[in-house]
Amino acid sequence: DGSTGGAGGHREHDGAPGVGPDDGAGPSVDAWAEDAMAVHSSLGTVPRRSDGKVAVCFVCLGNICRSPQAEGLFARHVERAGLAHRFEIDSAGTSGWHVGELPDPRTRATSARLGVVLDSRSRPVVRQDFARFDFIVAMDLSNIEALMAMADSEDARGRISLLRNWDADADGAEVPDPYYGEGDGFAKVFAMCDTACAGLLAAIITKAQL
Ligand code: 4NP
Repeated sequence: DGSTGGAGGHREHDGAPGVGPDDGAGPSVDAWAEDAMAVHSSLGTVPRRSDGKVAVCFVCLGNICRSPQAEGLFARHVERAGLAHRFEIDSAGTSGWHVGELPDPRTRATSARLGVVLDSRSRPVVRQDFARFDFIVAMDLSNIEALMAMADSEDARGRISLLRNWDADADGAEVPDPYYGEGDGFAKVFAMCDTACAGLLAAIITKAQL
């Protein structure tokens, strides 16, 4: 048949069916999550903390638009799965430009309209985050570059991933910075983050057998 199968299959899907909950055909989100986890070098190491929690930190440039959005949406998926006690969830920015600020008013408005209240405060990524978090999840490739420059070991670098690599249908696309844009950029960010966060959680549940 036409199924891909095997590690990394999600990277080479060609018009493969989606993984939405009401999509009867094609690979299940669980099957895809296994593939996604296979390409993440944290394989075999979660949960690694003595408290059994999996720690996830979302990262963007300012930590006021994209990463707080992803943080809030991932937390909602975790809560819906009844797994809040198994996670530490945070977000941070590669810049310190907005330290202490709430998310951008446009992010908060879009998010609240779609049912998620965001109240985190912006903080910069710090070197200790590479020890504290199992997954450091970047919104775009410039975030990845900044994080790679901070990470000082293979282990630290292996914790970094691109958010939309956890979305089987996004093929590793970036979450575009909505800050200077207009219109529905924030709603698009919400939708992109929501789908990818569901994929990330599915992958972690599979891997950590939560
Ligand atoms: P974020 O968006 O990285 O998604 O939080 C931005 C927020 C602020 C700026 C750029 C991007 N800024 O230039 O201040």
